[in-house]
Amino acid sequence: MNAIVLYKSKYGSTKQYAEWIAEEIGCQAVEAGRVRAEALAPYDTVIYGGGLYAEVIAGLTLLTKNMEKVKDKKIAVFSTGITPIDCRDYYDRLVLEKNFKNGVPENMRIFNFPGKMILSELSLPHRTAIKALKKLMSGKENPTEMERLLVQLCDADGDFTDKTAIAPLLEYVRGEK
Ligand SMILES: Cc1cc2nc3c(=O)[nH]c(=O)nc-3n(C[C@H](O)[C@H](O)[C@H](O)COP(=O)(O)O)c2cc1C
Repeated sequence: MNAIVLYKSKYGSTKQYAEWIAEEIGCQAVEAGRVRAEALAPYDTVIYGGGLYAEVIAGLTLLTKNMEKVKDKKIAVFSTGITPIDCRDYYDRLVLEKNFKNGVPENMRIFNFPGKMILSELSLPHRTAIKALKKLMSGKENPTEMERLLVQLCDADGDFTDKTAIAPLLEYVRGEK
């Protein structure tokens, strides 16, 4: 396998997963911002990771806007976020709709890993955004289940990264197409 791991990470959790995966596979983990889609030509397998910010997988447009250039590769995409991994409706519906307007391409599989949010480490704009979201959602008269969860998640404060979570992704990239 000739693979590369690309990642976009502001607070380090996606980078940590990218490094774990690269170490397991024996390839390089590279910041996505340094790479142009054209440079992916030599690789048969591309693994992309990005933190979730308002359901958007950070930097994923590097691939989704260049699908023609990577259509013959095996691609694994992973997100990191604070929404519990068992909220499948969130990941399989909301996150996919937001990031793949035309559906998930056939040569791509999506994985979701638990991330990290340490409130005291957040940038001022991010802390302000989280506070504003919490205020908005707390003010709802008849909140949906998702809105109630969001209020709780605004207080999620911790590092939930877990190396064992990468196992299904490793199995996919190591397996047959
Ligand atoms: C402003 C902001 C928005 C976020 N939006 C989401 C989100 O929509 N879904 C989610 O699960 N986590 C969300 N998070 C949590 C981050 O995705 C999580 O902390 C992730 O692990 C960060 O990745 P990084 O450390 O690689 O930057 C958000 C965090 C911040 C600060």
